[in-house]
Amino acid sequence: MLTPQINLFKKSNPLIVKVLSNLRLTPERGKGKRPFAEGDSAIHRITLSVDHNVYPYLIGQSAGVIPPGEDPEKLAKGSADPAYTIRLYSIASPSYSFGKTKDTIEFIIKRDDVYDESGNLLYKGVCSNYICDLKPGDSVTMTGPAGKKFLLPQTDYQGDIFFCATGTGIAPYLGMIEELLEHKLIQYQGNVYVIYGAPYSDEIVLRDYFESIAKKHPNFKFITAVSREEKNSFDGGKQYITHRLRELAPQVKSAVEGNGKFYICGGPKGMEKGVIEEMIAASKSTLSYEEFKKDLETKDQLFVETY
Ligand code: FAD
Ligand code: A2P
Repeated sequence: MLTPQINLFKKSNPLIVKVLSNLRLTPERGKGKRPFAEGDSAIHRITLSVDHNVYPYLIGQSAGVIPPGEDPEKLAKGSADPAYTIRLYSIASPSYSFGKTKDTIEFIIKRDDVYDESGNLLYKGVCSNYICDLKPGDSVTMTGPAGKKFLLPQTDYQGDIFFCATGTGIAPYLGMIEELLEHKLIQYQGNVYVIYGAPYSDEIVLRDYFESIAKKHPNFKFITAVSREEKNSFDGGKQYITHRLRELAPQVKSAVEGNGKFYICGGPKGMEKGVIEEMIAASKSTLSYEEFKKDLETKDQLFVETY
């Protein structure tokens, strides 16, 4: 049994790493499906040079990043430590890394910017913009690893797994699918569903990777919910991952009742509740929302990483 190690690097003793590459995965503003007036949706894949022996992690854990500089809000309050707060990012690369090497780590990060209704930029996220602006050769100050619960089954588990994501919530599933189906950490034969929601079809990042896995593994299904292009088959409204789960209600019921596992990752906040409510409806559970959630978490059937 592998035990996740946490907080090997902290604010007081961080790990300094180098950027190897920084690739934008979504179309440039105004050049994709998203109307210009809806602002930009910039999702980047960032690869850093990290020796896994120095920074041992399990897929599902997150890493901390400390943006450089001082936080003006902390300065204004006269804080003794005005450095920016650590931001967490899900590690996307499998723990042995792509290419079977152990010297890189990857993230999928979106510029967390806020636009007004006409598409004017109102606010910029500090750390996400700092990371998405990085160039090869730049240094990054990292902490972690963080998180002990959002992990793959490590024993000979053979039940079904539902990986539910919206937006950058897809990040950990890249490495999880690679480890589960390609690296074969365990000889896994169950059914795996990645159910992934994004506003536009060209903002479904890593599509090529997941579709190539679907071609190779009949037990793997890659299901998308494109909210602003597709209509759901229930009330004709936006297509969300919750509607995709409802289409799979018999499989969801059998997974809830038969030791299946459900992972939920990403934002917005209401997504987690909606997904769990679909699970309750599909399984016709009589438990309350809180009881159901606790029950499944206690039985290691539900893992939530929402932000
Ligand atoms: P901040 O500067 O912290 O700002 C937060 C928000 O407030 C932004 O939307 C910003 O535009 C807005 N804002 C700024 N000023 C104002 C103002 N005056 N009024 C109103 N709003 C304002 N993110 C990813 O992209 N990928 C991941 O894989 C990922 N994994 C995560 C894993 C975990 C466990 C957690 C907890 C979070 C994860 N996140 C991930 C989210 C990430 O940690 C950050 O929260 C995110 O990048 C925003 O940080 P920031 O510094 O860019 O924004
Ligand atoms: P929408 O914004 O069209 O309402 P991103 O993080 O890139 O914005 O993507 C988040 C995705 O999750 C979007 O497609 C968004 O749809 C969708 N979404 C918003 N609210 C919910 C919800 N309660 N349940 C599931 N998906 C949601």
